[in-house]
Amino acid sequence: MLALANFPFRRARRTRSLQWIRDLTAESHLSAKDLIWPVFVMEGENKVEEIKSLPGVSRMSIDKVVECSKDMYQRGLTCVALFPYTPSNLKTPNCEEAWNPENLVNRATRALKKEIPQLGVMLDVALDPYNSQGHDGLFKNGKILNDESLEALTKQALIQAESGADILGPSDMMDGRIGKIRSSLEKNNYKDTIILSYSAKYASSFYGPFRDAVGASGALKGDKKTYQINPSNSDESLREVAADLTEGADMVMVKPGMPYLDMCRRIKDTFGVPTYAYQVSGEYAMIQAAANNGWIDGDTAVFESILCFKRAGCDGVLTYFAPKILEILEGL
Ligand code: PBG
Repeated sequence: MLALANFPFRRARRTRSLQWIRDLTAESHLSAKDLIWPVFVMEGENKVEEIKSLPGVSRMSIDKVVECSKDMYQRGLTCVALFPYTPSNLKTPNCEEAWNPENLVNRATRALKKEIPQLGVMLDVALDPYNSQGHDGLFKNGKILNDESLEALTKQALIQAESGADILGPSDMMDGRIGKIRSSLEKNNYKDTIILSYSAKYASSFYGPFRDAVGASGALKGDKKTYQINPSNSDESLREVAADLTEGADMVMVKPGMPYLDMCRRIKDTFGVPTYAYQVSGEYAMIQAAANNGWIDGDTAVFESILCFKRAGCDGVLTYFAPKILEILEGL
């Protein structure tokens, strides 16, 4: 830090005194281009279904997802991330639905790419929406089978790339998954498919509403602590990021977001790669609940919560508040 003048030669409040000078000296900025919008897809037509634990977020049938995404794209959104609400009769111990080319997210991807080719589509690589046990990997006799899961995840990823997904987001936290997925993409000539690895994904309590949204909460046996990172650890996440980059990830993610801003900064400073945060369902639910009760001002709190990811070093944010942020930006 450079030496600063002493008071009154330096008055910090000069550059805070009016909106235009605050804008001129702002270090971080937020635009529609910083956002990835997570969307829950369900079967049917013309369907929009409220998710109780995520007030203001709905599951939508594919036609509605396309309609809303088109509107958001026209207003500046660059990318959506799709998550399926899989009918429970399609959930099995071997998760075969994950690599069915006709599963919900693959159909939704094709529909989106057909109607809005310039909108990025990201898909989650993980078995939980298809697993009768609710886990991200294959779960047999009380244990997650790492290497067997890799085969399943690689099949899932390849079909997603074939369906037209631009970004694959492995969120499963199995060891070695990025390398396996990258080799299979290269071998099959999907050279431009981007991998945004959920590298620093923590075993967090903030995923609850998401598991309701995809219908996985009832199914989950136990917890995910044998594969997701212990919230106490910081160096371990750097090792995960290093491994994923070596194995062929293009971009990396920290998840959850707000309680882990230190990780966003550390990862950005250490690796200098495109870094993202997922403001997860529990974070959304907390802010929304406080806003709905009038305990905080919703719009300004939402905007601040996303802007702070930029300040912490993130290049972008996955957030259920994407529609709200667009609204706020349009009103500025
Ligand atoms: C699972 C997955 C989860 C989320 C995204 N992908 C939940 C989990 O790990 O149990 C959570 C997102 C959120 O809470 O908003 N593959």
